[in-house]
Amino acid sequence: MLIRNARYLLSVNDLESCPRTGFPEYAFIGRSNVGKSSLINILSGSKSLAKISSTPGKTKLINYFLVNDAWYLVDLPGYGWAAVSKQLKNDWSVLVRKYLLTRKELHCLFILVDCRHEPQEIDLGFINWAGRNGIPVALVFTKADKVTLQVLNKNTGRFLDSLKADWQELPETFITSVIDRRGKAEILDYIGSIIKNIG
Ligand code: GTP
Ligand code: MG
Repeated sequence: MLIRNARYLLSVNDLESCPRTGFPEYAFIGRSNVGKSSLINILSGSKSLAKISSTPGKTKLINYFLVNDAWYLVDLPGYGWAAVSKQLKNDWSVLVRKYLLTRKELHCLFILVDCRHEPQEIDLGFINWAGRNGIPVALVFTKADKVTLQVLNKNTGRFLDSLKADWQELPETFITSVIDRRGKAEILDYIGSIIKNIG
């Protein structure tokens, strides 16, 4: 899939403000700091489209980026920050849950997992919740440049093994790095194949 153009469109904190164009949406979610905004920048070919931060929990709104004047990349707020208030966590879950459970335009939710860690309950719990609720998901292991191939295989293998108890068929899986751009073409082709099927 060729990206001809990409631009930031808007940020919303309620569903009523989401675009009404009906264009398909591809959203990115995961723990704070996992690399959602960085991946969106790499996919769109624009270094500074989505804001990248060293402070976890920076993205608190639903951010829309319009690609090829035809579909959206959606940057969702990260889950699991330790440093924010309970109220903010509640606001997060109300907004994001509502988006994920009701947004008909959402054609794939990419769930990002940091490949440096052994399987974490928060990620497994979230992906199982999404699966149970019929949300179309794909799995993305990020920051692959930070580990050896051996660690990468061990952590991703264990993660997928943990999912097998709940999943008849495992979700599509990608390995990415924004440093060496691994996984970029694969994810864009995957989005392209979904768009083709929508017709
Ligand atoms: P929040 O919006 O706070 O939830 O974070 P996020 O998930 O959007 O993460 P973000 O893209 O802001 O990246 C967090 C940090 O990880 C930044 O310092 C990035 O430069 C770094 N990072 C992201 N992806 C990669 C990667 O593939 N490799 C390496 N080495 N660093 C990465
Ligand atoms: Mg972000």
